[in-house]
Amino acid sequence: MSINTSPVTPQQYEILHGGGAEAAEIAKQRLSRRRFLRRSMFAVWGLSATASVAGALNMLYPNLTGQFGSTLTVGIKADFLAARPGDFKIGQAGMFYRQAAKAYVVHLAKDTAFSLQGTTLQDQLASETVVKDSDGSYWIALFQRCVHLGCTVPFRDECVSFKCPCHGSHYNVTGEYLDGPAPRSLDRFALSFKGEDVVIDTGTLNNKVPHPDATTRLIPVPTVQCSA
Ligand code: FES
Repeated sequence: MSINTSPVTPQQYEILHGGGAEAAEIAKQRLSRRRFLRRSMFAVWGLSATASVAGALNMLYPNLTGQFGSTLTVGIKADFLAARPGDFKIGQAGMFYRQAAKAYVVHLAKDTAFSLQGTTLQDQLASETVVKDSDGSYWIALFQRCVHLGCTVPFRDECVSFKCPCHGSHYNVTGEYLDGPAPRSLDRFALSFKGEDVVIDTGTLNNKVPHPDATTRLIPVPTVQCSA
């Protein structure tokens, strides 16, 4: 882009070379026009550079506020009635689905009968991202995605467990693997509280919970079989 002003007209040329007040005025006008054009050009460069940097930052750090991938408030504690595993009913007791977070909120009663005890239990709860509340109950936020090939896994009241409709992977209420082709237990998000709000960080995923064995299984295998 050129920043030259318009060519000098023959009349202006005469005046400019003749000197005097008129010549000074024309020279002044040409100088201001040149300054204006230069400043405009820098302003355009500045704006396009800012837009490019903003676009690059947006790609690197997308603003996910309020969307899946960010930290979401999914309700208040009173929305999630705690229950023992055998009494779970989706949307009513122990197990609640939150579409925005693509997650099941699991709320285990404080008198849940765990298979482990003492520090072994505490360590296993921590490794499975189970949060103990101040009232003694336990919370988990399970990602809805089957860890086999990614189908959404429904919770089934009649067999109090998750059973994947795609290839049959089966998980108990804490997301621990029971049977099927899944390579590990269900993944889980970080869950916390802000006052009475229940908050799920859908950008922080624990995808490292292996198949449980007798030394790591949190709760017993359900005794009721799923119909199919
Ligand atoms: S995707 Fe769930 S078992 Fe295959």
